[in-house]
Amino acid sequence: MTDVNTEKLSSARFAEATDEFVEIFTASADFDQRMATEDIQGSLAHAQMLCKIGILAEQELHSIQQGLAQIEQEILSGQFEWSLKQEDVHMNIEARLTQLIGVAGKKLHTGRSRNDQVATDIRLYLRKEIGNILSQLDRLQHALLDNAEREADTIMPGFTHLQVAQPVTFGHHLMAWFEMLSRDKERLQDCLKRINIMPLGAAALAGTSYPIDRYMTSQLLGFDRPSNNSLDSVSDRDFAIEFCASASLIMLHLSRFSEELILWTSAQFDFIDMPDAFCTGSSIMPQKKNPDVPELVRGKSGRVTGHLVSLLMLMKSQPLAYNKDNQEDKEPLFDTVDTVYNSLRAFADMLPHIKSKPANMLKAAQQGFATATDLADYLVRKGMAFRDAHEVVGQAVKLGIDSQRDLSDISLTELQQFTALIEEDVFAILTLQGSVASRQHIGATAPDTVRHAIQTARNQLS
Ligand code: ARG
Repeated sequence: MTDVNTEKLSSARFAEATDEFVEIFTASADFDQRMATEDIQGSLAHAQMLCKIGILAEQELHSIQQGLAQIEQEILSGQFEWSLKQEDVHMNIEARLTQLIGVAGKKLHTGRSRNDQVATDIRLYLRKEIGNILSQLDRLQHALLDNAEREADTIMPGFTHLQVAQPVTFGHHLMAWFEMLSRDKERLQDCLKRINIMPLGAAALAGTSYPIDRYMTSQLLGFDRPSNNSLDSVSDRDFAIEFCASASLIMLHLSRFSEELILWTSAQFDFIDMPDAFCTGSSIMPQKKNPDVPELVRGKSGRVTGHLVSLLMLMKSQPLAYNKDNQEDKEPLFDTVDTVYNSLRAFADMLPHIKSKPANMLKAAQQGFATATDLADYLVRKGMAFRDAHEVVGQAVKLGIDSQRDLSDISLTELQQFTALIEEDVFAILTLQGSVASRQHIGATAPDTVRHAIQTARNQLS
C-alpha cells in the first residue's frame, strides 16, 4: 500500500494529527478495497438520484460518472494508489475522484454517510458472491447426479455407528449428499431475500434532510426495496451473520463428505480411488498418496464456523446505531466467501474423477450380517410378530458368528431349527441385491428408486 499525501479526512475538527500508528490501526483500505466495484456502483446510483432531485447539475453528474469509470479502470488494472491515510475504500475513491474532477467530486457525498455506504456495499458484494457460490453448488450437484447415475446399482454397506448395518446402493449414498447441498442452496437463496434490501439513504443514522428518492436508488441497484429504519440499516449485520451460518453448514456438509472420502481411500476401506491430481505424496514415505483436498476442506470448515462466531460476538453488545466495531465484519466475511467458494470448486472439480471399487464395496457389505433385518421382515411377512422375529434372527446371527458364515451361507435345515416359517424362498431376500431391490418406496435405496430420484432432481436443477 502506497501513501499518497492527500489531506486527511475530518482534519478541520482536529487540533492534532492522528497518531501514526492509530492511523494504520484504524484503517481498513487494505482489505475493504475488495468492495471497490460495489462502492462505485453505489456512488453511481446515488449521483444519478442526486441529479434527479436537483442537487447535482447534469454536467456534474457527467463528470462524476466519467471520473468513477476511470477510477474503476485504475483499480481493475492495479494502478490505483491506495492510501491508508484515506482510511478506507470509500474515502480513497472519493479523494481520487476529487483529484480527478475537482469540486463535483466533493458533492458526491451529499445526503449520504459512509455508514449507509458501507452497509450498501457489503450487501451488493454478498449478493454477487452468493451468486458465485450458488453456481459452484450447482456444479457439485450435477457432478453428484452423474456419479449417482453410474453407481445406481453398485452395492455398498450402509453404516450406523460406523458398523455395517444394511446394504445400500452407492448411488443412494451419493444422493444423500445431493440432498444436503439442496438445502444449503435454499438457505442461501432465503438469506438473499434479507440481503437484498437497500440501506442507502439512512445516511449516518437518522436519514437526511435532502429530498432523496430511495426508491430510485433501490431500483437502480437492483434491490427489492429501501430499508424501513435508518438506525437499523446502518447498524445491524445480521444478514452477514446469516450468510456465515449458511456457509458454516455448507462447510460442515463438505467436512462430513471429506471424512467419508478420506476413510474410503484408506487401505482399510479401499472403496474408491482418488484422482492423482487431487492428492499429494509424502516427502519421506514414497508409497504414500494422501487425500489432501478432502483433508484440507475438512480443516477449513473450522475456520468458517470460527468466522460465524466472530461475527456473532462482534454484534452482540453494540448499541444502536453504527459503531466502528463493524469494520471488523469484513475480514471474516471475505475469508468465508473465499473458503466456501474454493472448497466447493475443488469438490466439483474432483468428484467426476473419483472411481468406485464395486468389488471391495460388495465384499464389505457381505460382512456384518447386513441382511439380518431383511430376515426379520421376511418372518413378519410370514406371520411372526416383529419382536419375536428380532429374537429368532439374533439366534441365526449367533450361529453365523460362531461358524464364521454369512446368513446366506447357512443351510435351510439349519435355519429351520430356529423357526419352521423359514422356507426355500428365504435365500432371495438374504442376498444383498434382493435386500436393496426390495426397498422401493420414495426415499429408499432400490436401484430403480434411486434412478427415479436422480431424474426428479435433474428436472428440478436443469
Ligand atoms: N470503514 C468503515 C467500516 O468498515 C466504514 C464506515 C465508517 N464510518 C465511520 N463513521 N467511521 O465500517
